[in-house]
Amino acid sequence: MSKLYTNLANVYHEIYQTLFDYDEEFKFYDKHLKENEIKSVVEIGCGTGNLAKRLHEAGYEYLGIDLFDEMLKIAKTTAPLAKFRQADARNFELQEKQDCVIITGRSISYLTSNNDLIKAFNCIANGLKQDGLLMFDAIDASKLFVGFTYEKLDTLLTTYSSNEYKRISKSKKNLQFGWTWDWESEYFMKNQDGEYEKIGEDFSTLRAFLQDELSLFLKITGFELVNLLPKKSYAWDDNFFIAKKV
Ligand SMILES: C[S@@+](CC[C@H](N)C(=O)[O-])C[C@H]1O[C@@H](n2cnc3c(N)ncnc32)[C@H](O)[C@@H]1O
Repeated sequence: MSKLYTNLANVYHEIYQTLFDYDEEFKFYDKHLKENEIKSVVEIGCGTGNLAKRLHEAGYEYLGIDLFDEMLKIAKTTAPLAKFRQADARNFELQEKQDCVIITGRSISYLTSNNDLIKAFNCIANGLKQDGLLMFDAIDASKLFVGFTYEKLDTLLTTYSSNEYKRISKSKKNLQFGWTWDWESEYFMKNQDGEYEKIGEDFSTLRAFLQDELSLFLKITGFELVNLLPKKSYAWDDNFFIAKKV
């Protein structure tokens, strides 16, 4: 399973603040939450708490859920007053029914089998009030897989604070589960001699989705799609879904 969210959680926290613009992410979610008069929100895949901090400070009744304790440990320092809970998106219950559940930062990519996705949507539907909303972003398979050669290599160089990072990634088509691919990355950090030293590696299988595919998964788990928008990200194009529990 992923090392990015365990051994490398702190590296994730630093690198991804240079990739995602969390102020923009917050503005985006805040707009959609306000438009729908949402007061209580549960974030699934809350990671290291960058959105948690902003949503909590903006006055939402917030709960962050993540699978990995290492991510939650950092989240609790990022947003000390927000509430967090360790749980698996595929198997959780909420004590109180919520106005809205959000799955952020394309965390849905980790629900690689149809079963995973159905289990997660069922848990979310159980945790929502009648007419409650589910909002999430998902990588658009129709964009990602056009021109996806069998293996793609990519190097990222980025600096957070004074830490200089390099990530060398290989993406390999793997259509076993759906629109999935294997993502292998090696992480390096510059040492005092100015040389990149390997600090870890990660292997994950990730899933992108077609719009119709997700619309159907929503329908069979008790949701009605109310809005579907394109959403830009630092890499690959996303679709943003808003669905209502019916
Ligand atoms: C790409 S990160 C996004 C984190 C955060 N939303 C952000 O924007 O920085 C994906 C997150 O999903 C979490 N995750 C992966 N599988 C999960 C599962 N089955 N249940 C809950 N969280 C999960 C990971 O631990 C990680 O924090």
